Amino acid sequence: MKRAGILSLFTLLFLSFIVVWNRSYESGLEDAYIPLDASDAVPSIPSEEGVFKRAEFALEYDKMPYDENHQRSLDTYYENRAYYGAPPYIPHEVTEERNMGGNSCLKCHENGGYAAKFKMYTPVTPHPEMINCRQCHVSQLTASAFKGTNFPKNKAPKAGENNALVSSPPIIPHQIQMRENCLSCHAGPAAPKEIRVTHPERVNCRQCHVLNNKKTADIGNFKKYLNETK
Ligand code: HEC
Ligand code: HEC
Ligand code: HEC
Ligand code: HEC
Repeated sequence: MKRAGILSLFTLLFLSFIVVWNRSYESGLEDAYIPLDASDAVPSIPSEEGVFKRAEFALEYDKMPYDENHQRSLDTYYENRAYYGAPPYIPHEVTEERNMGGNSCLKCHENGGYAAKFKMYTPVTPHPEMINCRQCHVSQLTASAFKGTNFPKNKAPKAGENNALVSSPPIIPHQIQMRENCLSCHAGPAAPKEIRVTHPERVNCRQCHVLNNKKTADIGNFKKYLNETK
């Protein structure tokens, strides 16, 4: 009886020691931690926030080997679009006909990867938040019911001709509504080979690449004069 009393006394003392020590340890941590006041935080610009959406994968993109046999090119990219800027057709069969895209489409299109079933790499969607995919993306159900017309297609801007100088960052030749998330189209194995970026790790794309929304006048031959004014 006496022994049990002593044992429980010591257990009690030991437990209270642990509790007190934990408390003081945690309050010690609190002093070192200055909580961020939300009103101090740097405001984000909603239209530019999208640039960073896939930034966490940037280093993986950088190290990823490319599978030359299953690449997309700008030609195959535009073959699948009625005109420049149009939502691409769904080029594969769709298993669940009446379904929002959340489960049935994003399992492949959110992060991409090789789909053995279609023998291709999956293009990553730049707009995973638009869940109802088939509101805009339709399957091509017929190859014969429609006839060609003289509907003029909007021409897409060319890649590879947008640098002001050799090796200066090319201007973004396209509008960026619904294209805020640059890495989704410009990096990874499904990116068309002509526009696959050599530097996916520089995540703040718009730091160097500016929009083509200003009309610029041709200034003729551009020459740089070095140290001639002295
Ligand atoms: C098993 C994975 C998988 C699922 C599920 C899937 N896709 Fe795809 N999707 C692919 C692959 C792979 C490609 C590329 C095929 C090609 O280029 O021939 C593709 C291509 C596309 C494209 C053309 C993209 C482009 O740039 O031309 C669209 C649009 C698309 N899918 C929409 C959808 C929609 C909508 C759903 C849901 C109903 C869906 N996909 C479900 C794997 C998938
Ligand atoms: C409001 C209409 C709309 C909805 C909803 C929508 N998309 Fe799109 N999608 C577009 C348009 C328009 C483009 C072409 C963008 C462009 O060329 O600038 C596009 C492009 C794409 C591409 C091609 C990206 C590339 O490599 O060029 C994929 C893949 C895609 N969408 C998948 C999806 C999936 C998956 C969903 C559902 C989760 C979805 N989309 C929902 C309109 C939509
Ligand atoms: C829907 C897919 C898509 C998204 C998202 C996208 N781009 Fe593009 N980008 C393209 C395509 C396709 C081209 C080739 C020209 C064209 O067809 O519009 C291109 C061309 C470019 C070029 C010119 C490359 C050259 O060699 O001349 C630059 C620079 C560029 N994009 C930067 C960006 C930046 C920065 C973002 C993010 C703000 C972005 N892109 C988002 C598809 C995309
Ligand atoms: C620090 C500046 C800087 C940043 C940040 C940057 N780029 Fe570039 N980018 C350049 C320069 C410089 C070139 C021209 C490279 C050359 O001609 O060798 C270039 C070229 C490109 C090209 C043409 C193809 C190529 O790779 O040469 C594309 C597409 C492109 N950048 C997209 C992007 C995207 C998408 C991002 C964000 C992930 C990005 N860039 C971030 C400076 C930058």
